Amino acid sequence: MKANLMMGALLAAAATTAMAQAEDRNPLRERARAWEAAQWAARMPGVAPPSNGMQPEVIGGKVARDGRWPFMTPLMFKPIADNVKAQICGGSLIGPRHVLTAAHCVSGPDLSRFLQVLVGTQSLLEGGRRVQVADITVHPKYEGRDHDVAVLTLAEAVTDVEPVSFIASPAAEARVAPEGRLVFGMGYGVMDNDTGDSSPLLLDVKVPIVSRERCNAPQSYRGVITPREICAGDLVDGGEDTCQGDSGGPLMARGPDRKPNVQVGVVSWGNGCALADYPGVYARMATLGDWVRDQIKR
Ligand code: ARG
Repeated sequence: MKANLMMGALLAAAATTAMAQAEDRNPLRERARAWEAAQWAARMPGVAPPSNGMQPEVIGGKVARDGRWPFMTPLMFKPIADNVKAQICGGSLIGPRHVLTAAHCVSGPDLSRFLQVLVGTQSLLEGGRRVQVADITVHPKYEGRDHDVAVLTLAEAVTDVEPVSFIASPAAEARVAPEGRLVFGMGYGVMDNDTGDSSPLLLDVKVPIVSRERCNAPQSYRGVITPREICAGDLVDGGEDTCQGDSGGPLMARGPDRKPNVQVGVVSWGNGCALADYPGVYARMATLGDWVRDQIKR
């Protein structure tokens, strides 16, 4: 009897521990972060795999000024209450009911019931609220790293946040994001390599646009960058970049009013992070924007 009670208590303790661990596990985050490594060998034979793929956070960035990126809408794993542990990927509010993110963050079997987005804050520690995702639409041509965009439909409209505008033509891109123009990346990407925890505060980074030609050069991505991708980063020194956990977040350019309020890209991948010759690679709104716009109309 006494022994049985002991066993019961031990089992209960073990079960509680297992549950606590289960609550902390974020399989969607793990999947999003493993995506690049899994693809690497197939896509870039002969190029060394990412050497610092798990380097912390938006590399070389700083805490974003409060209220600067109101449309930043990170993806959350619903079963975890703690936002720092629940954060999966970035996203941007492109309409009251729609969030743009990277396809690789949400592709596969329907994950919508596990997905929420966080709106109305630039901190994972306070403020904001979670909104349930009702539907996931991955770009029909998403394959490998190409066409890496998806649109989430929200279960309720977000009426107190102004959606971000985005470009949908190469001509618009030539105006707001020509080669060399400084643009802004941002995210809550991983800060602690052991826990995989996200940055509690939104970080942003300023990087120059790199031409597709230069991005595809032999010393860089060797021709794998498609017309659905745009590169941004310092080719000579590296040092500043988005990184693991930032995927799905917006790359912002200054519009005609000089304010950085035009989305030109979606964080997608890179060879490591912030390395010279290997800029960050972003899904390109100039060629994917039309499809995205169609999803909002539906
Ligand atoms: N694939 C990463 C993610 O899922 C984003 C990596 C971006 N890398 C870069 N060098 N900019 O979060």
